[in-house]
Amino acid sequence: MQQTESLVKSGDNPRRPYVLEGIRLCVAPMMDWTDRHCRAFHRLLAPGARLYTEMVHANAVIHGDRERLLGFDGSEQPLALQLGGSEPALLAQAARIAADWGYDEVNLNCGCPSDRVQAGRFGACLMREPELVADCVAAMVAAVEIPITVKCRLGVDEDNDYAVFAAFVDRQVAAGAAMVVVHARNAWLKGLSPKENREIPPLRYEWAYRLKQERPALPVVLNGGIATVEAAQAQLARVDGVMLGRAAYHDPYVLHALEAAQTGMALRPREELLTAFRPYIEAQLGRGLALKHITRHLLGLFHGQPGGRGFRQVLSEGAHRPGADWALIEQALQVTREQAARAA
Ligand SMILES: Cc1cc2nc3c(=O)[nH]c(=O)nc-3n(C[C@H](O)[C@H](O)[C@H](O)COP(=O)(O)O)c2cc1C
Repeated sequence: MQQTESLVKSGDNPRRPYVLEGIRLCVAPMMDWTDRHCRAFHRLLAPGARLYTEMVHANAVIHGDRERLLGFDGSEQPLALQLGGSEPALLAQAARIAADWGYDEVNLNCGCPSDRVQAGRFGACLMREPELVADCVAAMVAAVEIPITVKCRLGVDEDNDYAVFAAFVDRQVAAGAAMVVVHARNAWLKGLSPKENREIPPLRYEWAYRLKQERPALPVVLNGGIATVEAAQAQLARVDGVMLGRAAYHDPYVLHALEAAQTGMALRPREELLTAFRPYIEAQLGRGLALKHITRHLLGLFHGQPGGRGFRQVLSEGAHRPGADWALIEQALQVTREQAARAA
């Protein structure tokens, strides 16, 4: 796939219609992980997937370094910016900036449980404030043409009432939300770290299924614990889309295999895909980026494969050295081949 180097700038904002087909495979927003280089790699693996940025607070969008926070490569689209915040006017302003930068969707974070986020009164604690979230959604919808969507949990702490969850979603849809991503577990705001909050509260996919069943017109994307092509395919029979987070990062080839299973596209070998990423990598190196900022996202490409350990090792040890370039990746591939041959 061709990697364009065009940065979409303010003013270049063709209206992009919302296509349900485009949400069947989504890659989750993940702080520190789904930066632009990670997304460019995921795009190569899954040409039709919908990609999400890391969460960016509305204030940062408005006052921060926009090139650093919002810049992306045209190849990443369709691309959603995930916003954090709970002030309607600020979110509307940030959404407008996102639309002007060419983003295809703005997603509001109602699922992050970190202490910092709670102190700022956004993220998962917003599940308890459906009216405030609706004001935020309505303000963003009024400000931009691109779809506004919400990513939420089932509830917080001991909440366990499907009707309350469904009412939260309905309120956001009434305010104009075009789609909901359901991370299908509660967030426990006291006593669990964000990492534990992705593992300990039990998954309850049934609530997402029921939401979809009762509201056939509402696009519902299911998130949480989906790690294989088979699991994703099974979920796609019940909801409109799946969103993969950790599995997409640690075993990115699953994105390629899932897209191939969905579209009939021919599977390309890992090595071929990586080689196709070379023009992107070299263009970034040419701009002065250190190789390690890209290779850290590639470490899982041979996950579970013979030689995968060697691949990771060569890249981890070599990428931080000054002047590291494509030759290191060639070396990693060579070691992978040799280890795989020995294992055969
Ligand atoms: C390192 C990391 C960072 C995350 N950052 C965000 C974030 O910025 N916004 C968000 O909505 N969710 C964030 N999440 C949660 C994921 O989007 C997703 O909901 C969660 O990992 C469950 O999906 P999974 O089981 O497929 O990983 C993060 C998850 C991880 C592992």
